Amino acid sequence: MNLFGTGNAEKKRQPNVAGISNSLGIDLGTLNTVIAKPSGDKFDLYQIPSVVAVKKEDATSVLAVGEEAKLMLGRTPEDIIALRPLKKGVIESVAQAQALLVKAMEIGIKKGESVGRIVIGIPGDASEVEKQAAEKIGLKAGADYVLVISEGLAAAIGAGLPIAEPDGTMVVDIGAGSTDLVVISLGGITDIETVRYGGDDIDNNIVDIVKEKYNVGIGIHDAEAAKIKVGMIHCSEDLEILTTEVIGKSAETNRPKKIIIDSVLVADAAEPVMKQIIDGLNLVLERLSPELITGVFNNSVAVGGSSQLRGLRERICDELSVPVTISEDPMTVVAKGAAIVAAEPRALEPEVRLKAMK
Ligand SMILES: Nc1ncnc2c1ncn2[C@@H]1O[C@H](COP(=O)(O)OP(=O)(O)OP(=O)(O)O)[C@@H](O)[C@H]1O
Ligand SMILES: [Mg+2]
Repeated sequence: MNLFGTGNAEKKRQPNVAGISNSLGIDLGTLNTVIAKPSGDKFDLYQIPSVVAVKKEDATSVLAVGEEAKLMLGRTPEDIIALRPLKKGVIESVAQAQALLVKAMEIGIKKGESVGRIVIGIPGDASEVEKQAAEKIGLKAGADYVLVISEGLAAAIGAGLPIAEPDGTMVVDIGAGSTDLVVISLGGITDIETVRYGGDDIDNNIVDIVKEKYNVGIGIHDAEAAKIKVGMIHCSEDLEILTTEVIGKSAETNRPKKIIIDSVLVADAAEPVMKQIIDGLNLVLERLSPELITGVFNNSVAVGGSSQLRGLRERICDELSVPVTISEDPMTVVAKGAAIVAAEPRALEPEVRLKAMK
C-alpha cells in the first residue's frame, strides 16, 4: 500500500462561483492577507503583507497598509511604527486590522461599486469576542454582510474536500504564527486543536542557531528567505541537502560575514515547531472516533505557507501513519474557501452561520 496516497483529496469538487459579483473571501493571516474574488468559475487572487504603518503617538492614524507598510518595517523614522495587527493568528490591534480589511476590500472591489458579502477566515479556536470583533471590523470597513468562518473549514472547502460527508476529513494549516488542526464531518467542525507555532518560530530559531554556531547575527528576513530556499523537516526520507549563502554581522569584528545555511540547520530550527505540531496531531487522533479515522486517512490536506517544507508530509506519515496531501495552492486555499462561502447564498442562513464556526 502506498501510505502517501495519490493526492486525490484536492480533486473532488470544483466550486460553482459563476455569476456572483462583489463577494469576497479574505484570509486575514499573521503574515499575509489573501483576497479571493469569484470570477466566472475561477478566482481573482490578491495578496498583501499583513502590515500597517501608524503614527507612534496615535496608533489609529494609519499611514500605509500592505506592501508600502512592509517596506517600513524596521526602517521607520522615529515617529512612525510599522506593525502587524495579528499575532499568532489572532487580531491584536483592532484599528489596524480594520485598516487591513479596508485595503483588502479596496483591492477586491472596484471603486464606486458597493461591497457585498465578505467572508473572513479566522482561527478556529477564536473566542466569541474575537469572532464578533472580526465581524464588526468587516462591517465598519464597509461590507453589507460579514460572516466569519474557521480558517480550517474555509481551507477544506477551498481544497474541495468532501466536508458534507459523514466520514471526516482533516486540515493541517501551518501558517506563520500558528497551526490549526481541524477535523470536519457533516459540514461542521468536529474537533480542533490550535498550536501557537508556525513559520515565524522557525525563522527565529534559525537566527538563534546561526548566532550560537557562528557568532553572527542575521536578519529575520534573511532567515526566512534561507528557510524557503533550502528548508526541510527531519524525516525518514533521504532528502537532498541544499545550501545558501547569507550575509550577517560578526559579533566579534562587527564586520559583514558570509555564512552558509544548509537544509540540516533549517530542519534543526524547525524541529521544536514540528514536535509541537506532532503533539497536537496526536491529541486530535487520540480524540478521533473510529467512525472518522477512514475519512481522515483518505482525505487529509496540509495547507498554509509552512506546509511547503520538504519532508513535512513524510514526517507526519512516519510518526502518525496519516498520509496528508500537500495543497497545490497552500497560501490561497483559505481565501478561496471563504470566497466560495461568500458566493453561496445559503451562507446567509443561520444554521450555516452556526456551522461555520464551532
Ligand atoms: N516555500 C516555502 N517553504 C517553507 N515555508 C514557506 C514557504 N513559503 C512561505 N513559507 C512560510 O509560510 C508562512 C506564511 O504562510 P501563510 O501565508 O499561510 O501564513 P499566515 O496565514 O499569514 O499565518 P497564520 O495562518 O499563522 O495567521 C511564513 O512563515 C513563510 O515563511
Ligand atoms: Mg493562515
